[in-house]
Amino acid sequence: MKGSHATQLAVASVLASFALGASAADSIKVGFMLPYSGTYTALGNAIENGFRQYVDEQGGKLGGLVVEYVRVDDESAPAKATDNINKLINRDKVDVVVGTVHSGVAMAMAKVAKDTGTLMIDPNAGADAVTGPMCAPNIFRSSFSNWQPAYAMGIVAAKQGYKRAVTITWDYAAGKESVNGFKEAFTKGGGKVEKDLTLPFPQVEFQALLTEIASIKPDVVYTFFAGGGAVKFVKDYAAAGLKNTVPLVGAGFLTDGTLDAQGEAAQGLLTTLHYADGLNTPKDNQFRLTYAKTYKMQPDVYAMQGYDAAQILGIGLAATKGDKTKRDVLVKAIEKAKIDSPRGVFTLSSSHNPVQDIYLRKVEGKVNQVQGVAVKALADPGRGCRM
Ligand code: BEZ
Repeated sequence: MKGSHATQLAVASVLASFALGASAADSIKVGFMLPYSGTYTALGNAIENGFRQYVDEQGGKLGGLVVEYVRVDDESAPAKATDNINKLINRDKVDVVVGTVHSGVAMAMAKVAKDTGTLMIDPNAGADAVTGPMCAPNIFRSSFSNWQPAYAMGIVAAKQGYKRAVTITWDYAAGKESVNGFKEAFTKGGGKVEKDLTLPFPQVEFQALLTEIASIKPDVVYTFFAGGGAVKFVKDYAAAGLKNTVPLVGAGFLTDGTLDAQGEAAQGLLTTLHYADGLNTPKDNQFRLTYAKTYKMQPDVYAMQGYDAAQILGIGLAATKGDKTKRDVLVKAIEKAKIDSPRGVFTLSSSHNPVQDIYLRKVEGKVNQVQGVAVKALADPGRGCRM
């Protein structure tokens, strides 16, 4: 082969490798394991959007490493979760798994992540166990535990003077743990939960349960629903004539990312969450502006949690200067970080769950308007975590 031709080929192959992506040492492969179908589809998309937004703001790199993505639709199906995460780890060779929304899926993921030592960042699922008995040095959460917003609402409801409550939710970990968190604070505050109503996830045939609520006539109803199910529940609650007779409160997922579809039925609802509209801080305003420009829609709590999942990864990788083998350095840096989130600055507890303010919000038009801080710097108890 003539020298100049060989040189041309070599240049061409280098260019091709750039076009295909950076080399493994110069890049970090993120595996999104999120719901891209079913009742939580919008939540999965918002998380991915938020994550990409933060990475794009850093010029497409974290800790000097080019970020590459692969994605798998977990369908919010716990039975498929172990296979799905194993595909990301063994077939796609991801460096970090970012997922997911559904608590049952997240628990299966956490088991595999713990067993294999794969870095996992949970950008939503609140399963208490992920930062409880299943906690591990390589597992972090950028969102909340199911206990957190629920416990805050228990305090609020008791302070409002409600004495008799009924709860209604899906019969899976997130619903059950949310109800337990509410109950813990509500009973401490002098209230009593008279009945827990459930239906299987992701069913939305609420009619019989709403009839039961009407016959019990409690002072207040506490609920956990999210995504498409939350839209239907809020509309059905109003259509059953309950909105004006029995106050409905909930963890803020009930009305986050759902208000366009819920319309009039949601007006005035009070919820608690680690995010709200109207925070009006420079950080949140900038986040919202960029998100709206990029994705042509308003961000919600899920987008914010995705954004912070990328921030958490970025903090760890910056400390290692992009050396993926320095896991201890990465973990220590995240553990001591103050994360400058659109929700407000937060830190991680010793079990790697956000220690954060929980806001009280009220639906006004198309927004969950902040009313104040329901509980300041609320830390999940991390029950059962040994690290
Ligand atoms: C969960 O399954 O943990 C969950 C799903 C949607 C919103 C919040 C929590």
